[in-house]
Amino acid sequence: MAPMNSVRARLLSSLAGQLGNPHGVLGKGIAFVLNRGNKAAIAGAVEAASVAPGGTAADVGFGGGAGLSLLLDRVGADGVVHGVEISADMLARARSGHGSDIESGRLRLLEGSLTALPLPDDSLDAAITVNTVYFVPDLRAACAELARVVRPGGRLVVGIGDPDAMAKLPFTPYGFTLRPVPEVIAALEQAGCQVEHRRLANTPIPHHLLVATPR
Ligand SMILES: C[S@@+](CC[C@H](N)C(=O)[O-])C[C@H]1O[C@@H](n2cnc3c(N)ncnc32)[C@H](O)[C@@H]1O
Repeated sequence: MAPMNSVRARLLSSLAGQLGNPHGVLGKGIAFVLNRGNKAAIAGAVEAASVAPGGTAADVGFGGGAGLSLLLDRVGADGVVHGVEISADMLARARSGHGSDIESGRLRLLEGSLTALPLPDDSLDAAITVNTVYFVPDLRAACAELARVVRPGGRLVVGIGDPDAMAKLPFTPYGFTLRPVPEVIAALEQAGCQVEHRRLANTPIPHHLLVATPR
């Protein structure tokens, strides 16, 4: 490989790695970029989750934390939001930005993975996970785990960038698993959910929201 190409490959691989697990000094910038670039997709997922005031919701893989703030607004003073992340730095960032919500018990931050959620069965009214499943090798295990923690009749919203649009981004070949939308729908159905497919076209990258209801 020519030297310039290998420098480019290293930079893109590092960017993809940061998006899959933001950390260190670069992670701070990544958190900011995620909150800006994915704002509309996250807001769409929160809207689709339809959690009522006083409800209990989670954002799994919250990254920069935009989804946590929106969910806290939705559940109000009597509700609870769980933020689950594998990134210790994103957990620390959320901790420092939400001191009073954590103190009041409205926000609970937990280290954990999509495939091993630190939450009891049927404990949530709603969960969102946006732009995360690209980093999970076992999609079926992740969907089964998400369906386990959302109560029957609740809402589980999986947001993904359109795979064709994502494939055109220079960093996605470096560690993203881009799955066709029907494959994600099938994994949610396999986990016992009824799935509604919504599209978000007015986002920087078109997104798909798979709004799943555990039975
Ligand atoms: C591309 S960012 C998306 C963040 C945010 N949801 C958004 O849409 O802006 C992916 C996030 O998922 C987290 N993540 C990756 N794999 C995960 C896993 N197995 N379980 C939980 N979070 C995960 C990463 O640490 C990162 O913060």
